[in-house]
Amino acid sequence: MVATVHSIAFQGLETKFIEVQVQISPGLPSISIVGLADKAVAESKERIRAAFHSLSLSFPQKKLTINLAPADIHKEGSHFDLSIALGILSEMNVIRQQDVDEFIAIGELSLDGRINSVSGVLPAAIAANSIEKGIVCPIGNVDEAVWSGNNSIVAPSNLMEIINHLNSTQVLEKPKSFNIKPDNENYLDLKDIKGQLIPKRALEIAAAGGHNLLMIGPPGSGKSMLAKRLSGILPPLSHEEMLEVSIIASISGTFKESGLVTKRPYRDPHSSSSMAAMVGGGKNAKPGEITLAHLGVLFLDELPEYANNVLDSLRQPIEDGTVSIARVNNHITYPANFQFIAAMNPCKCGHFGDIMNACSKSPRCAEDYQAKISGPLFDRFDMMVDVPAQDIFSLDTTESGEASTSVAERVLAARQIQSERYKDQRFYLNSEADGEVLERHTELSPQALDILKKAVPKFGITMRGYNRILRVARTIADLANSKEILHHHIAEALNFRITKLKA
Ligand SMILES: Nc1ncnc2c1ncn2[C@@H]1O[C@H](COP(=O)(O)OP(=O)(O)O)[C@@H](O)[C@H]1O
Ligand SMILES: [Mg+2]
Repeated sequence: MVATVHSIAFQGLETKFIEVQVQISPGLPSISIVGLADKAVAESKERIRAAFHSLSLSFPQKKLTINLAPADIHKEGSHFDLSIALGILSEMNVIRQQDVDEFIAIGELSLDGRINSVSGVLPAAIAANSIEKGIVCPIGNVDEAVWSGNNSIVAPSNLMEIINHLNSTQVLEKPKSFNIKPDNENYLDLKDIKGQLIPKRALEIAAAGGHNLLMIGPPGSGKSMLAKRLSGILPPLSHEEMLEVSIIASISGTFKESGLVTKRPYRDPHSSSSMAAMVGGGKNAKPGEITLAHLGVLFLDELPEYANNVLDSLRQPIEDGTVSIARVNNHITYPANFQFIAAMNPCKCGHFGDIMNACSKSPRCAEDYQAKISGPLFDRFDMMVDVPAQDIFSLDTTESGEASTSVAERVLAARQIQSERYKDQRFYLNSEADGEVLERHTELSPQALDILKKAVPKFGITMRGYNRILRVARTIADLANSKEILHHHIAEALNFRITKLKA
């Protein structure tokens, strides 16, 4: 006889169904696990044996063969413990085969028999749903399972509970369903920022059109403050987006204990981050920062301080919205559609252009510092904005600026115009429009065209730069609810190409 239990393997965000087969045959006591399993799976047998011992369950003193089929899919992680343990129990006739057939099982065992939380329960429960099976998962992951919409969930806290449940001696309670709402609160507010009207306007335009934005200014001028407030003016996540972001959180194990991801992600990895941390990869090919920032904001502070290869690795994902990680035997693709916001000082000392404070190496130090960022990366920014040092005493510090909630309303209105415009496309933001689509939707007024004709040769604007100006101008016109792009829309967009940095 062979007992079988269903489980799941993960390849990126994709799930693959795995059949765990267990056979007990005569022979010297041994356990072997076959089927392209990694070390964490191989260690499973020690945890299972200890868990059985702790719960005073007898362990078969025979030859145990465990096969994870299909054998050509690489299996990693400790979440196979539960399915293997259930397979052994079924093969021992402690539980009935037909009962385990109804479920996909995922969970890690402790030496004392407890079932520990694992990553990936949300996508596993969704996958189980798709083949009309229930899910057995750790109690710690029950919220994820509930949210998947699967209505046959068993979430035991230890191995004994699931045995008793399947044998109907102690039936576990059905987990309660709950409503999920996007979290619009707890964002930092734009009204905390005094002055800085142009950078705040830039942030609003960037939010409205999904444009990548580079902020340049001396230390302490408020660049980090601005970046932290972007998520608060972006529209709330839709239900599908919450699900997407939550699946990523589930796979990477960054799920908060209580509840799901309902806020737009905001990631600000440190400049010492490695390439694997940034784009994903490493031993288990976990998602990197750019995937954790999917549908949210990736903020890189002090951009030139990041390693060159890390910055270069961002270029492709910024264009494609996905990242592909090469593994020994396959490729994994993760989504990485984030809004890229970066900040930098104009030079190493940070005071380039400020006669009172600049260091003696100016302007060479600024050139050297800026040269750390490659031209192609600069090109990825639709908008650049100077964030100057402010004269504290000239600011009216009692008056507070516009609140994020009212800026968010304008952003949302501009986004609705865009969704309508691009309803036949695969994208929904001006920042993604290109080629013929962009041309079709950028009706320029005669004066607007006039300004462009003068500016292009004067500032040496390339074709790519030209398109970026059109996209930003399109967003500015959308914020003003104007179908046509007028001269002041173009003029404002041009301003966000020409900064202290490159001009
Ligand atoms: N425009 C501003 N309004 C209010 N506080 C500001 C402003 N600019 C800077 N600050 C204060 O200065 C601190 C440093 O700002 P920060 O955003 O970290 O600067 P940067 O990132 O440009 O170096 C903030 O925590 C805040 O207290
Ligand atoms: Mg800063």
